[in-house]
Amino acid sequence: MKTSTYPARLTVLISGNGSNLQSLIDHINSHHLPAKIELVLSNRADAYGLQRAADAEVTHMSLPSQGLSRLEYEQHLRSILRQRSSDWIILAGFMRILTADLVKEFSGRIVNIHPSLLPAYKGLNTHQRVISDRQTQHGCSVHIVTTELDDGPLLAQAMLDITYPMDTNTLAAQVQQLEHQLYPLALFGLCTQQCYDVATQAWQRAQSPQQPIFAQTLTSCQLQQIYQTWLNR
Ligand code: GRF
Repeated sequence: MKTSTYPARLTVLISGNGSNLQSLIDHINSHHLPAKIELVLSNRADAYGLQRAADAEVTHMSLPSQGLSRLEYEQHLRSILRQRSSDWIILAGFMRILTADLVKEFSGRIVNIHPSLLPAYKGLNTHQRVISDRQTQHGCSVHIVTTELDDGPLLAQAMLDITYPMDTNTLAAQVQQLEHQLYPLALFGLCTQQCYDVATQAWQRAQSPQQPIFAQTLTSCQLQQIYQTWLNR
């Protein structure tokens, strides 16, 4: 896993609303996350996240895939990522599957947030599938991207209990609330090479580069407590 410069330089890839992007922007602007977003790139020109980047005066661009083959698209994307050479490539709702070649080129430097308790519910429509299966717990995971879809070393995970009846929109909103705290916290750990020991309730310097930022899946209560402690540091 890569060591970042300080403040860490990020490229954020999005496709849509960009609420996770907004959360990162807010935590950077309030000086909680020692990072700088060098570029926001969307594969959709109409992504609302681009407006969020513009409002925050963050450099942004769209790289639409329409009319391009998968290979042509990735060549463009790779050359942009190469030019930027950011410390971390942050996927925040980027709805394209990256090829193995691209992932290998930026190996260990691509981070993703996925709306499920990985390794359960990889892929799309996670909230709907979780409800159909009458699961009683759900959540989100931050992980390093590998060539396998929604796989790779877990950095952080947070969960919530589901109370039925439940609908997809409500559950998605509940999970996103977790995401907006978990993603900046996990990236704080990556950028500063610290991990949070829930047992001792303390941030510690990471001993191993592969160490997860949080050693265990956080309950929503634990996440809330750690998040507040972090904001008040
Ligand atoms: C999030 O739920 C994230 O877990 C998934 O895509 C969604 C993006 O939402 N990968 P937003 O665009 O950040 O609001």
